[in-house]
Amino acid sequence: MTVIVTGGAGFIGSNFIFYMLKEHPSYRIVCLDKLTYAGNIKTLKPVMEQEKFRFVCGDICGRETVYRLFEEEKPDIVVNFAAETHVDRSIDSPSVFLQTNIMGTAVLMDACRKYGIQRYHQVGTDEVYGDLPLDKPNLFFTETTPIHTSSPYSSSKAGADLLVLAYHRTYGLPVTISRCSNNYGPYQFPEKLIPLMLINALNDKPLPVYGEGINVRDWLYVEDHCKAIDLVIHKGKDGEVYNIGGHNEMRNIDIVRLICKELKKPESLITYVKDRAGHDMRYAIDPTKIHSELGWLPETKFENGIQKTISWYLENRSWWEEIVSGEYQEYYQKMYGSRFG
Ligand code: NAD
Ligand code: TYD
Repeated sequence: MTVIVTGGAGFIGSNFIFYMLKEHPSYRIVCLDKLTYAGNIKTLKPVMEQEKFRFVCGDICGRETVYRLFEEEKPDIVVNFAAETHVDRSIDSPSVFLQTNIMGTAVLMDACRKYGIQRYHQVGTDEVYGDLPLDKPNLFFTETTPIHTSSPYSSSKAGADLLVLAYHRTYGLPVTISRCSNNYGPYQFPEKLIPLMLINALNDKPLPVYGEGINVRDWLYVEDHCKAIDLVIHKGKDGEVYNIGGHNEMRNIDIVRLICKELKKPESLITYVKDRAGHDMRYAIDPTKIHSELGWLPETKFENGIQKTISWYLENRSWWEEIVSGEYQEYYQKMYGSRFG
């Protein structure tokens, strides 16, 4: 079995590669990644020399590159993680999101049609459902919740999902889509809430909480997401969408307070800053379908997952110190300079 994993030098993709090499030692795993600011080849160092692993630096939008790779590898399964993923960056410059997230998905699926595959899997997000109100805690996103996006990021991901379903219906391409809630864990780029707050706190820098900090996200440990995708690609039904989430809703401010507590840093570092434009209030997944059809359940409780994540960032300082000492400073200045007012 040969699996092409796109975006495997990023956060979830790299965790997925480690997971697959461990769980399916006979599989060949081929990573295609453009190594944008979010991709880090050093993350893949532990598997780089493994016989069953190959890394290819390339763009999913590059038809020639993609077709050549399919010709060489004849993949059985393609799992597409490659994407521009940060909502704030999408608000700042949407066009690259449309290019990679929509056009790139189309190129990959064209290659799947041309060369034939057993399964194309699209790694999607719960953000395609828009948001839920805070005062209706019994409402959850199911697979039939209408698509109702808020940001250029979520709109580009929704566009991709619709295209994937269209390729299934029109051309009979064997596809599945998963839509997961917010992930956390090792190797997450420090533009996202948890690693950003962890690193700022370790550096005694202000912790920029958007708005009032009452927005709710449904947090899932990254390995549980990887397990769910493994199940969907092997046992999921063609043309189906599977929501992934573990009923772990938390307010942003409570996450940031927890980080202060765990790192023994004062809450006075918390600084309320200008809110994100169009900021989604609450995400909450109903994972009944993947549980009842495929038997998936999350295994890592948030208390344990956050401990593991904090320990990882403490033990792997060089991984993130290298990131935050480079171009990241410019990004931080651009995104947060005016927010602090
Ligand atoms: P990430 O930003 O950490 O990594 C993205 C990876 O894609 C990087 O390695 C980058 O180099 C690569 N990439 C970007 N553009 C590319 C291109 N044109 N060609 C090839 N590679 C390219 O992202 P992540 O957080 O690991 O997310 C992975 C996927 O999971 C995305 O599709 C995202 O929408 C989805 N998702 C993420 C979350 C989350 O909480 N992080 C939740 C649900 C779904
Ligand atoms: P993020 O990690 O960007 O994920 P998403 O927007 O895709 O859910 O943000 C998670 C939540 O944290 C979101 O409500 C925005 C908020 N947030 C802050 O309050 N401050 C920050 O510096 C960041 C990056 C996010």
